[in-house]
Amino acid sequence: MAVRTAVIPAAGMGTRFLPATRATPKELLPIYDTPALQFVIDEAAQAGCTRVVIVTSRAKPSIENYASAASTDKVAVTVVYQDSPLGLGHAVSCARQAVGDEPFVVMLPDEIMGDASLTKELIVLYEKSGKSSIGLKRVAAAEISSYGNVKVVGHKGDTEDIVEILQVVEKPKPADAVSDIVIIGRYVFSPKVFDKLEQIKPSANGELQLTDGLAMLANEHALLGVVSEITRYDTGTPMGLLRAVIEIALERKDIGPQLNSWLKEKFNK
Ligand code: G1P
Repeated sequence: MAVRTAVIPAAGMGTRFLPATRATPKELLPIYDTPALQFVIDEAAQAGCTRVVIVTSRAKPSIENYASAASTDKVAVTVVYQDSPLGLGHAVSCARQAVGDEPFVVMLPDEIMGDASLTKELIVLYEKSGKSSIGLKRVAAAEISSYGNVKVVGHKGDTEDIVEILQVVEKPKPADAVSDIVIIGRYVFSPKVFDKLEQIKPSANGELQLTDGLAMLANEHALLGVVSEITRYDTGTPMGLLRAVIEIALERKDIGPQLNSWLKEKFNK
């Protein structure tokens, strides 16, 4: 079945961005003039999704206001609520009714991708294999503990970047890392994942972790990954957001040259 729905979890309280997030949800903080959330909605549409379901909190009414004006002729944007902040696994399960019994993409809005190629590749892999498929990246040792970490093996008959996931560990201590490969925020799920998410128990941080649902799929040999070198901006911290603003603005034809010459002038003083 074709993948046509993208779920964007956006219920977090954004405490790393206080005091800005007292007034504006993290997902609506601008990358120059465009909210991070819009980049992810655009990516979903470019990857061929026609429905976007944003999982948000009633404490963030501006997300719903934004969503109500975000539908286009290509993509219909709707909102569902996560009433308590119980973790990413729980946030995804809150979209169950809206998604229905069909495959779907999960896109974490903390991560902005240079283009929609990884999401497209994950959709193709799901459609070919029938297995949930997630975005992966090799990182430096010091970064592993900020992410879900996976042990993988090459997937028979496929190119080197396509792997089967054998083990998943959420934010391991450096000594417990199982590889240098981590989960980046793009997932394509079979609807079967919703049954797995019903079974997970609170774990890391006392939260219902999406990673524990992934581990169940991996145990059943039902989880593949694409090890990607896509350009990616992690906007989950204020410094990450600032870098994304500068890099994305430098890439833009309308403002990039002006920003570039201002930066040169500033650093040549
Ligand atoms: C979440 C997931 C983690 C994944 C990361 C990607 O963590 O739990 O497995 O690697 O997103 O950004 P968070 O960044 O929400 O703490």
